[in-house]
Amino acid sequence: MAFVVAVAQRKGGAGKSTVAATLATTFAAQGQRVALLDADPQQTLARWQQERAAAGSRAHPLGFEAPSGWRLPATIERLARTHDVVVLDTPPHADTDARIAIRAADLVLVPLQPSPADLWAMEGTLELIAEEKRRAAVLLNRVPANGRLREEIVRELLRRKLPLLEPGFGNRTAFAAAFAKGLGVVESAPRGTAADEARAVADAVAALRPGKA
Ligand SMILES: Nc1ncnc2c1ncn2[C@@H]1O[C@H](COP(=O)(O)OP(=O)(O)OP(=O)(O)O)[C@@H](O)[C@H]1O
Ligand SMILES: [Mg+2]
Repeated sequence: MAFVVAVAQRKGGAGKSTVAATLATTFAAQGQRVALLDADPQQTLARWQQERAAAGSRAHPLGFEAPSGWRLPATIERLARTHDVVVLDTPPHADTDARIAIRAADLVLVPLQPSPADLWAMEGTLELIAEEKRRAAVLLNRVPANGRLREEIVRELLRRKLPLLEPGFGNRTAFAAAFAKGLGVVESAPRGTAADEARAVADAVAALRPGKA
């Protein structure tokens, strides 16, 4: 069965779709059989997938579906049989749809931009994950080059005993540039810093696969 990873965060614009696409393409570039599911009615990844279809050989093979909420569990179950990893992008604000994705996940990644407002918004997401008894890992996203803010947030997360993924993503235009082309950073700029970060995050996520940790 596949390792099912949902990306969830109530806060809009936290980086859910970017993280889901980055993770899926990084695993795919490693040769894993990956399915990416867009469970957000905004259909951000469905749009990304359209660009991807025209991206040519740089795009690694990736299963993609955008099922509506009630069909999500059956779709995940079906894809989990034929893939190594299933990555789910979820909507902000819509707890019912997000809950369905969280329930089906082995691991829920919670992207967090290092700001107090984002930290506060995350609390509802973590409650949802706890209610569903799922494993959560906070992924710092858009971390500014100046390390002070990161240190403060990390200290706060540790104080609250929240599970933090050690590597995170910096605030880098490479992520948006790759996304616009329907690619992940490991495909559009494999030797860049963003791609290094993507591989480090993918390795840290893979280490949390049930049976591994
Ligand atoms: N690490 C990053 N560096 C630079 N820009 C980023 C990074 N992560 C995300 N972004 C940008 O932030 C914006 C929001 O990202 P994204 O759409 O992934 O968030 P989201 O959580 O999926 O939003 P929504 O809640 O609307 O679904 C986008 O413009 C994206 O390009
Ligand atoms: Mg999104």
